[in-house]
Amino acid sequence: MRIDIITVLPELLKSPFQASILKRAIEANLVEVHFHNLRDYTSDKYKSVDDTQFGGGAGMVMMIEPIDKCISALKSERDYDEVIYMTPDGETLKQGIANQISLKENIIILCGHYKGVDQRVRDAYITREISIGDYVLSGGELAAAVLCDSVIRLIPGVLGNETSALTDSFQDNLLAPPIYTKPREYKGLKVPELLFSGNLPKIEKWREEQAYLRTKERRPDLLEE
Ligand code: 6GU
Repeated sequence: MRIDIITVLPELLKSPFQASILKRAIEANLVEVHFHNLRDYTSDKYKSVDDTQFGGGAGMVMMIEPIDKCISALKSERDYDEVIYMTPDGETLKQGIANQISLKENIIILCGHYKGVDQRVRDAYITREISIGDYVLSGGELAAAVLCDSVIRLIPGVLGNETSALTDSFQDNLLAPPIYTKPREYKGLKVPELLFSGNLPKIEKWREEQAYLRTKERRPDLLEE
């Protein structure tokens, strides 16, 4: 998989890809991530990427020209399956969307900034608009990092234990059950006895029940989906 991220703040975005699972995925060539600074595609001496709104109103709007130049340059090199725009008014990111995107070959992610982009960018180039939740961030960069993390960990070979992505919370519309590790007892706090029983079918059944109870209590909306 190849991900091209278009941003006015590449420095803000890079560090999540330089540690842990994402770093290893890149080093193992399971994914390529390229950052493109929108200012490199501007044509005026101030390297402007935004301007005031037609019709008036507070806030700057990202201009179509640098975005068109950047996307066109990328598209001249290869075909893209999706051109995703990160925006608070997009569809809310869910595990199912991450699963779908993880199957793509080449994607572009455009990070919104200021008030957002000229509507013509969305109409002409964007194939999918994604938000990471109902709150406002200063820009799409952190949201893009969240999307990339959720997608990259699903690429086969990225996680050491191939089954572990399948047992994540949300993968079957259930939250994950409680988990424990050593010591067996800490300051009087005990691990459920059943987990030492060696009875794997019984443990599995307990985990399923716990996942269900936890979901029913915390996220009943997931059980209705
Ligand atoms: Cl994708 N962008 C911004 N600016 N804020 C957000 C978001 C995206 N998703 C949730 N809040």
